[in-house]
Amino acid sequence: MPSLMINGSSTVLDVPDDMPLLWVLRDVAGLTGTKFGCGVALCGACTVHVDGQPVRACVTPVSAVVGKRIVTIEAIGLDPVGARVQQAWRQVDVVQCGYCQSGQIMSATALLAATPKPSDAEIDKAMAGNICRCGTYGRIRAAIKVAAATPGTPS
Ligand code: FES
Ligand code: FES
Repeated sequence: MPSLMINGSSTVLDVPDDMPLLWVLRDVAGLTGTKFGCGVALCGACTVHVDGQPVRACVTPVSAVVGKRIVTIEAIGLDPVGARVQQAWRQVDVVQCGYCQSGQIMSATALLAATPKPSDAEIDKAMAGNICRCGTYGRIRAAIKVAAATPGTPS
């Protein structure tokens, strides 16, 4: 039974080692903010952080994240950069249907944590794997720039 560190809490879950992390989060841990889109690492809807890196939970077996720090959209607001990203998303009014936005916010937060003042090219590269069927890409880029310009973002 894998022991996982999810959003700062240690949890032992009775799941098979090869169960995708996305299933574990949504169906076992009850953390449904992380979304299922394609299931094959093509859309980014399932993006979570593992030791601070954006990871596609749909293709990550739970055995690969034992002993690592897993953070989901439910707790990203506790991270100072994540909180600024969420605030910027509200300010710019990014969301349309919302389905892709958990993954978008997780990827944007990982980008800004690593690259506090990203160029357009760096934003495009970091966000390229996150698909938005509603086409909110312009507002996503604007919100990332707002978050990057917000005082307190590490530089
Ligand atoms: S559901 Fe994981 S990348 Fe699409
Ligand atoms: S806001 Fe609808 S898919 Fe992105």
